[in-house]
Amino acid sequence: MVPILLSSYLIAVAFVVADIREGEEPNKISFEENAHSFIPSELKNAVENLDIENSLQEVENIAISAEKSRKEGILPTEYADELHNRMVVILEVITEQLKDKINAYRFLNSKGVDRIITPIIGINHDPLRKQLLILIKTLFNVAPITTNALIPISVVDKLLDIFENDDNLALKAHALDIMYVWLPNNPVIQARVMKLKGLESFYNQISKLDITVIHTLVDLFNKILAEHVRARKTQTQRNKEDYEMMQIYQMIGLIERMSTPQVCNGLLNILEALMSFKNDHIQISPLIFELVKNTKPFCLKMYKGNVKAIDLFEKLYKFVSNWHNRDLMVSIGLNITEVITVIEDFAINLKEHENRDEF
Ligand SMILES: *[C@@H]1O[C@H](CO)[C@@H](O)[C@H](O)[C@H]1NC(C)=O
Repeated sequence: MVPILLSSYLIAVAFVVADIREGEEPNKISFEENAHSFIPSELKNAVENLDIENSLQEVENIAISAEKSRKEGILPTEYADELHNRMVVILEVITEQLKDKINAYRFLNSKGVDRIITPIIGINHDPLRKQLLILIKTLFNVAPITTNALIPISVVDKLLDIFENDDNLALKAHALDIMYVWLPNNPVIQARVMKLKGLESFYNQISKLDITVIHTLVDLFNKILAEHVRARKTQTQRNKEDYEMMQIYQMIGLIERMSTPQVCNGLLNILEALMSFKNDHIQISPLIFELVKNTKPFCLKMYKGNVKAIDLFEKLYKFVSNWHNRDLMVSIGLNITEVITVIEDFAINLKEHENRDEF
């Protein structure tokens, strides 16, 4: 008993240290970190593992029973639904428990990922899938490094599938929220996503998403693009790991893809959706300018003579150069000088081409 406890204690300590070191990046859900007060109690309160363990077993048993009845085809779907709904209730309880960092490590140490997440994510029952996504999201927010280390890469395939093919907007949003935490600074997962789907599948979803989800998507895109620009600029690789990472970034080739018509047009559609003109009122957000700024080196040339782009940037320029809007722009944290310079560049360059065509 003692060696087992000791080893799980050491694993917990190692992961806690790792999570604290990298957990400094602000996550969507913030949590109190107080590692020192709980590490000793990890040993003392080993008995409390039973709570998580019991819940895990309960879910497992129901899952086995549901799977059995499904395979045998002997029970009506209503019964399967009932079993799935019972699982939802227990998953809700587990999710609540996971908000406590200690419990999150208990869950991970008890192989919760293999026992619960991997088998259940394949079950096609919306409320169950939704609760499982919330559970995964909670794990990533509470214990990002450990979760990243233990969750199988194949889960991202499932997330993409949900994001792309599920009609349920809430499920799409949860799947994206998980990718929002999982993908940044994680070129291995990014490579998987790009290999499976590329960026196109993301653009294709735009018309089906609401504005909050689009915001998350664009925010994620901005982050990852900045990460790639940074990584590709860095010439020195300190060690073998750095070198391997660099190779993965090169293999993903996001920078190379950025200047393609598919990507630039996709981004234009996103920009259009983000600005969502309603009665000449533009919904403005820092995210729009971040996106515009990021795409400028890649897409400005591509947009020349593009009617939609000309129209969009003209409206945007009219808005930012109108002094009536200064207070609003300052209030959302924009650097007006910078914003006007960038938008003006677009507005002028795109039209120059149009004029040349006309004469
Ligand atoms: C605003 O942007 C301009 C141009 O990029 C820059 O020179 C200036 O330092 C920025 N101001 C602030 C307060 O960041």
